[in-house]
Amino acid sequence: MHFTSFLVAAASVLPVFGQLSGKVGPLTTHAAKSAKKTCNVLSYGAKADKTTDIGPPLLAAFAACKTGGTVVVPAGEFAIKTWVTFESGKGWALQIDGTISRTSGGSGNMLFVRNANDFELFSSNGKGVIQGNGFEDHKTGKRDGARLIRIEQSTNFSVHDIILVDAPMFHFVISKSSNGEAYNMAIRGGDMGGLDGVDVWGTNIWIHDVMVTNKDECVTVKSPSKNILIENIYCNWSGGSAIGSLGTDTAISSVIYRNIYTVHSNQMMMIKSNGGSGYVEDVVFENFIGHGNAYSLDIDQYWSSMKLIAGDGVKLSNMTFKNWKGGLANGAQRGPVKVACSDKTPCTDINITDLSMWTETGNKQTYSCRSGYGNGFCLKKGTGAGYAAITSTQVAAPTGYSAPVMKEDLKTAFGTAASIPIPTMPASFYPGTPPRSRLAGQ
Ligand SMILES: *[C@@H]1O[C@H](CO)[C@@H](O)[C@H](O)[C@H]1NC(C)=O
Ligand SMILES: *[C@@H]1O[C@H](CO)[C@@H](O)[C@H](O)[C@H]1NC(C)=O
Ligand SMILES: *[C@@H]1O[C@H](CO)[C@@H](O)[C@H](O)[C@H]1NC(C)=O
Ligand SMILES: *[C@@H]1O[C@H](CO)[C@@H](O)[C@H](O)[C@H]1NC(C)=O
Repeated sequence: MHFTSFLVAAASVLPVFGQLSGKVGPLTTHAAKSAKKTCNVLSYGAKADKTTDIGPPLLAAFAACKTGGTVVVPAGEFAIKTWVTFESGKGWALQIDGTISRTSGGSGNMLFVRNANDFELFSSNGKGVIQGNGFEDHKTGKRDGARLIRIEQSTNFSVHDIILVDAPMFHFVISKSSNGEAYNMAIRGGDMGGLDGVDVWGTNIWIHDVMVTNKDECVTVKSPSKNILIENIYCNWSGGSAIGSLGTDTAISSVIYRNIYTVHSNQMMMIKSNGGSGYVEDVVFENFIGHGNAYSLDIDQYWSSMKLIAGDGVKLSNMTFKNWKGGLANGAQRGPVKVACSDKTPCTDINITDLSMWTETGNKQTYSCRSGYGNGFCLKKGTGAGYAAITSTQVAAPTGYSAPVMKEDLKTAFGTAASIPIPTMPASFYPGTPPRSRLAGQ
């Protein structure tokens, strides 16, 4: 089914959307936009010669199509030397069917879409690629280069069927936006911290069917956020997904993470802060599968990689962790459940049900809880004051922990010193689950 008709159909059966508060995605189809006007970058000075800077042609094509139309980057290999800010477009689309490779330095955002309304960034053939060539920076120790795509203060938009490779810094950021959808994406970066896959904050945003390979955030929600639905995520040797880092006046509510497959990552899900204030509430983490990860369920309100922020701690409440399966790297070192809540602001209504995981090395694993209240494992019931960490040890595998393995699981990381090959889109992003929308070009 075409995704717009799917959305219209789904609007009448809202529960499918869980946490979303309304319609997401562009208001008009890219076909309607293209019928109105098409601005092909080749007509604005672009050349598929791997050398000519596509930056100025993109900007000129945008100027001609920004009030209604589609900017087209056709199949072919293009170079980008100067970054582009697409400011205040309305009723427009950016169709990328070729490869755009970074061939110069500079920080900031390579493709920066700001104040857009009714916008769609997509590939019609599933072969649209942004190649960041981050290794050129990383091999010399440079760590502050460009982000590949940023969507900011935009509404009624989607980003889909695009492949992002080897960002100098983050791959994809959605900030201060609403009514957005991002799906059918493969993101593959270097094997090092600071190369986030997807960072999102805003209202009413659906992210689904995304694969991330890197060594930092997989799909991470930041503050402020409300009504965020994240589904069918394949963290293929990454940092893992997270909520955070959380600081002063955190405001996050109504978030669902569902069908999250994580392999060889730092964690399956982490909520991270150190001091700070505000809240994270009404969150569900369901259907998680892990293999070979360091941490699994990890709430850390003393996160040592973050400097201490003033405040008694971010209040975490009403969080449900349901149906977690699989293995973990070393259960004696880092057990499947680590809840370390703020002593001054204990967590409440943390509900861990149906979590069955077992260590892949050794024959024991630990569960650890500090200042956490709710249900499951070492959590204390009810409410009350902060308490010191309680640790319990399990010496026999729990029943029903085994979980399927995806055939695309990465066997070795891509490092940071050599060019990273363009991945192909996997057919599925979670075991036994087809993508919510058909993959482009298939
Ligand atoms: C975004 O779309 C919704 C309908 O889904 C509409 O109510 C809203 O006005 C749109 N936003 C803007 C800025 O036009
Ligand atoms: C807890 O969060 C869930 C999921 O967002 C929500 O459906 C439920 O109403 C919340 N419970 C309370 C008591 O707020
Ligand atoms: C925890 O979750 C289980 C299963 O979803 C539910 O039956 C139970 O009522 C929940 N408990 C609390 C305290 O929310
Ligand atoms: C995940 O790893 C597998 C195995 O190397 C690879 O085929 C697949 O393309 C990877 N996904 C990404 C997005 O890099």
